Amino acid sequence: MNLYGKNIILGVCGGIAAYKAAELIRLLKKGGADVWVVMTEKAKEFLSPLTLQTLSENPVYSDLFHNECNYPMPHIDLAKKCHLLLIAPATANTIGKCASGIADDLLSTLFLSVSSSVLIAPAMNNNMYTNPVVQENIKKLKGFNVNFVEPEFGELACGEYGEGRLAEPDAIVSKIKELLSEKKNLTGKNILITAGPTHEYLDPIRFISNLSSGKMGYAIARAAKRRGGNVILISGPSNISPPPSIQFIPVKSADDMRREVLNEYKKADVIIMAAAVSDFSPIRYSDKKIKSKESEGITLKLKKTSDILSEVSNRQAVRSQKKIIVGFALETDNIIKNAKEKLKKKNMDFIVANSINGFGSDLNKVAIIDRRGTVEDIPLVSKDKIAEILMDKIEKGLKVKYVK
Ligand SMILES: Cc1cc2nc3c(=O)[nH]c(=O)nc-3n(C[C@H](O)[C@H](O)[C@H](O)COP(=O)(O)O)c2cc1C
Repeated sequence: MNLYGKNIILGVCGGIAAYKAAELIRLLKKGGADVWVVMTEKAKEFLSPLTLQTLSENPVYSDLFHNECNYPMPHIDLAKKCHLLLIAPATANTIGKCASGIADDLLSTLFLSVSSSVLIAPAMNNNMYTNPVVQENIKKLKGFNVNFVEPEFGELACGEYGEGRLAEPDAIVSKIKELLSEKKNLTGKNILITAGPTHEYLDPIRFISNLSSGKMGYAIARAAKRRGGNVILISGPSNISPPPSIQFIPVKSADDMRREVLNEYKKADVIIMAAAVSDFSPIRYSDKKIKSKESEGITLKLKKTSDILSEVSNRQAVRSQKKIIVGFALETDNIIKNAKEKLKKKNMDFIVANSINGFGSDLNKVAIIDRRGTVEDIPLVSKDKIAEILMDKIEKGLKVKYVK
């Protein structure tokens, strides 16, 4: 992919790797992009704006108020033309400000003003990078759909060895190309996704649940949003921040999830049931905490919860319409055979078969099976990657249904 016609705004922060901005500009311009540089005040301690101005062939900006051009509001005017905001190198300070919504200079204000994709390439000392505060800020930003190019291991400018060296400019430019070539083929489509576990309460403080983290369902929600879908995410309890600009419906129990799915499924073009809904819930719920004395030798009586997927996929409103239904199957044995049976029984278009090893992890190894029984084995990859592969299949499935 070339970058012709793309305005890339490069935010440069005050770190030793600031000099690599020069190489980034060279590569971006070679790819055809127009590059506009925003430097923090501290970045100017490391590198002359004149160098970046000369290489980018555009003015360099850093002052929010007394700007170097005639823009009355540079953060808004730059945001309007921006196809992608790249912050490289990104300091711990600027990452922290972005994660907290602090907008006290041009770059951090611009970060809040852009509606384009944002890519952050951190670079810092390894102790700074692995500091839990910095990691927490990165995690928070990822939850808001901000993209990262992870730094590399190697010798650092401070003389130490570890993780924190700015990713190679080539790798950063490849990631930019990947982000800018993203398809928006789900524009106008309503995508209903369930995620996370459910909590089935015995009393006000105790519940039955499972190890689901919600990571897979949230990755699918992000992928569907990136492709332009109108996403409704119905999620059981999870620590993950929902992606911005989606409809988010938090629930607790299998009953809550059923109620919300039945409220929303009619308008959905695609229904993806990634939640690990508890199969059982206690027959009796005690309003008061069950006392430990009373619970000695207690027998817990459970009832089956309703099978939300079957209920939805067998409804006339779904059968007669061109909806795509996707389910997940978690098995400990005979994974493919059991998943195929479930796919057929529940009238799904796709089923994602996975083992228990993926619980809580960012990675998983799954197989995606379609209506005809074709199995595609996906090796151990990130859940974001699995979500992309699944979305490709759903897009194709929607095309086939609409052509029929
Ligand atoms: C010599 C020197 C090198 C520095 N290198 C880095 C670095 O690589 N990464 C980083 O996060 N901070 C680094 N810092 C600290 C930042 O410059 C400092 O946190 C500053 O406030 C960042 O401002 P900015 O985010 O507005 O650019 C360095 C400081 C000095 C004095």
